[in-house]
Amino acid sequence: MCIFAKITRLNKPGHLFKSVKIALSPKEFDRINIISLLFGILGVSILLLGIQLLHPGSYMGVLSNSYGGWLGIVADAVLLYCINNAIKREEEQRLIEQFGSESNAFALDATKKLRKKGWLNNGKLNESNLVHAQLQNANLGKSKLQNVDLSHADLSNSFLVEADFQGSNLTGANLSKAECRWADFRNVNLRWANLEGAILDGAKFDGADLRFAKLGKINERTTQIDNAILQEGMSAEEIELVQNSCKLIRKTMSEFSQAFYRELFKANPIIKKLFLTNIDNQAHKFAQFFEILVGSLNDTEKLLPALKSLGRRHANYGVQEHHYTIVGAALIQTLRKSLGTTFTNDVEQAWLKMYGLVTMIMIDASKGLV
Ligand code: HEM
Repeated sequence: MCIFAKITRLNKPGHLFKSVKIALSPKEFDRINIISLLFGILGVSILLLGIQLLHPGSYMGVLSNSYGGWLGIVADAVLLYCINNAIKREEEQRLIEQFGSESNAFALDATKKLRKKGWLNNGKLNESNLVHAQLQNANLGKSKLQNVDLSHADLSNSFLVEADFQGSNLTGANLSKAECRWADFRNVNLRWANLEGAILDGAKFDGADLRFAKLGKINERTTQIDNAILQEGMSAEEIELVQNSCKLIRKTMSEFSQAFYRELFKANPIIKKLFLTNIDNQAHKFAQFFEILVGSLNDTEKLLPALKSLGRRHANYGVQEHHYTIVGAALIQTLRKSLGTTFTNDVEQAWLKMYGLVTMIMIDASKGLV
């Protein structure tokens, strides 16, 4: 039996609107180009005229007469190129913002423009931040969206045939009923995502994290899902190892908890600043939660909401992702000292697995992903 085997319902993303400016029209670009061209020519002509009038027979006068015109043209061309590039980059930025906006109408409009410009599949969108993008019913066939943050995006009913999402973050995204034939989801984070009713024939999931994802029916012959991370929880043996070793410290749980905080602050004194409560009280609260946690490893219904809410509270305490590694190390060290020879390699691996799952849920919740 697995803990956390139950798949949770997805939270609907909020409906906040990001400010989206409308891109400049081609006519406006042309006007800017012509004005800058005229401006450049005027400037260079005045300069040349000035040199020739002031020093007609001098070296500079002759030089400006023979080369000045060419220099002016080259300088003007460079200037034009730079202005054009800046405008293009700005337009690109605006379109990407619009594409990732939290309004479906804006996002669909941007999708059409991006496709027209060929930017959907030339890698321009790689590494963009499209968190919460509302891309329902979008035509993203063959688009390249590698290493993109699409966490909590809505891609339901969209056309994703041959789309390339390699390395992207789609945590908590909604891909229900999306057409994903031959899409590339290799090394994609799809935790808590909803793929129910999605057409996944030929889609590749090697290295994808699909824990807690809603998968619906998958044809394993046509979908390459064998090398994805699917296992959500701990095995019955691992749960037993953790629970049995916990029984050995149950009687001395408050001392264990205090020893854990001593260990934590000894190795990382700066972390102590995060704790405003008296440490004995904190140790007591931790011990209480810890006992409930270990005792409920088989009870997903109870555990998941408790861990999600604990994770959200920790975000408010100022706890950051890297703190979880530090706390994990202190916990394992305290267990090693308290359990002595009974803390075998198998027991340690089971505790590490539990801590990894607990922190994964807490961190995802603290980021608002579940
Ligand atoms: C498995 C991981 C953890 C568990 C089970 C856990 C458990 C708890 C519990 C039960 C509380 C009592 C308050 C409440 O329920 O909201 C608490 C508070 C707190 N925890 Fe954790 N915690 C964990 C990880 C961490 C990490 C990684 C840090 C980072 C240093 C941390 C820092 C804090 C702080 C600052 C408080 C608030 C103390 C105060 O009120 O002054 N915890 N924790």
